[in-house]
Amino acid sequence: MTQTSFQVRQCVNVKEAVAAHYAWAITEQWDAGKDGNDIKLAFYPTHSAGFLIGIVTEEEDREEGKVTNEKAVSCICGMKYDDGTGFLALYIVGDASQRNKGYGIRVFNQSLEDLSSSRWIGLNAVEEQVSNYQKSGFILRGSITRFNGRKKKEDNNRAITGASAIDIDRSHLFVEKLIDRDHRSSGLYRPTFIKNWINYHESHGWALALMHCQPGAEEKKVVGFGCMRPLASGAYRIGPLYADTLDYAVDLVTQLMGKVPDDAEFTTDSFMATPEINELFQNKLGWSPVATFYQMWRKGADHSNEEDHESHPPPFEAPMTKDGYYSVFSLEVG
Ligand SMILES: CC(C)(COP(=O)(O)OP(=O)(O)OC[C@H]1O[C@@H](n2cnc3c(N)ncnc32)[C@H](O)[C@@H]1OP(=O)(O)O)[C@@H](O)C(=O)NCCC(=O)NCCS
Repeated sequence: MTQTSFQVRQCVNVKEAVAAHYAWAITEQWDAGKDGNDIKLAFYPTHSAGFLIGIVTEEEDREEGKVTNEKAVSCICGMKYDDGTGFLALYIVGDASQRNKGYGIRVFNQSLEDLSSSRWIGLNAVEEQVSNYQKSGFILRGSITRFNGRKKKEDNNRAITGASAIDIDRSHLFVEKLIDRDHRSSGLYRPTFIKNWINYHESHGWALALMHCQPGAEEKKVVGFGCMRPLASGAYRIGPLYADTLDYAVDLVTQLMGKVPDDAEFTTDSFMATPEINELFQNKLGWSPVATFYQMWRKGADHSNEEDHESHPPPFEAPMTKDGYYSVFSLEVG
C-alpha cells in the first residue's frame, strides 16, 4: 500500500532553489536570467528563507521494507526587502500533470503566512492568475508592459547628449545613489537586494551609470542608471533603467546595446506610470509591446485592520516621483 503526504519547506540551499524555481520557470517559458543567475546571485542571497518548495512523499510497504520517495512538485519565492515589504514570485507547480491537486495554493498560503508581518505584499501576475490572486485578497493596482526589440544600424552611432557611461563599481557613492533613486520611484527601500544586483551584474552582465556635465555645472553628475543581463534564451534583459530625461534614457539603452553583438535581442519590463515609457521604447527605439502583467497588492495579515488602501498606499504608489523610471529591476521581484 502506498501512502502519500505533502509538506512545504524552505529550500535547503541555492542549488535546490535553482533545481526547482529556475528549472520550472524555464519550462513555463519565462525567459529567466541565464543559468539561474537571477536566483543564484540576487534573489536567494537577498532572502533565502523565502524560497519554498512543496514536497510529495510516497511511502510504500514492500516485502523488503518501507520505501520512501520524495519529489518536489511546487515552489514560490516570497522576497522580503529591508523595509519589510514582501513580493511573491516564481509561483509554479512544475509538472502540469500535478496541477489542481492543491500543491500550488499550499506553498502560496505558506509564503503569505511567512510574510504576514509585512505592511504590503506585492506580485506581478499573468492575466490568467489575476482572479486567483483576488481570491487571496490582492487588489489590482497597475500594469507592467514587456517590450522586445533589436538593435538597429542607427543605434550604433546614436549619442544625443554626449553623456558617458561608466561601470558602476562597488563604490559606495553610486550604489547609494541607485538605492535612493529606486526608493523614490518604486517606493521600496531595498539596499541588500540592490547591492546583490550590482554585484551580479558586474560579474555576469553590465551595470552602468550615465554621467554628464550639464551646461553651467563644474562637474559631471549621475543622470541615469541601467543594468543588463543575459537570459536563458540568449536575449538580454535591461532592468532597471532610470534616467533624468528621455534623451539620457535613449543614450543609456544605446550604450547597453553596444555591449553585445549586433544581432542581439533585447527585452525590458516597465511599470506603466508615465507616457515617456512608450515614447522611449516604441517611438524612439522601435521596440514592440509583447505582454502585459498585472501588479497586485494586499496587506500582510498583521496590517489587515489598518485604515484602507488609500491612506497607506502600496509602495509603488507612494507619493514619490515616477519621472525617469523606465524599467523595473525584474518582473519577478519588482
Ligand atoms: C498557478 C499554479 C501554481 C497554481 O497551482 P495549481 O496546482 O494549478 O492550483 P491548486 O490545485 O493548488 O489550486 C487549488 C485551488 O486554489 C485556487 N488557487 C490557486 N492559487 C491560488 C492563489 N494564489 N490564491 C487563491 N486561490 C488560489 C485554485 O483556483 C483552486 O481553486 P478551486 O479548487 O476553487 O478550483 C499553477 O497553475 C501553475 O504552475 N501555473 C503555471 C505557472 C503560473 O502561471 N504561475 C503564476 C504566475 S503569476
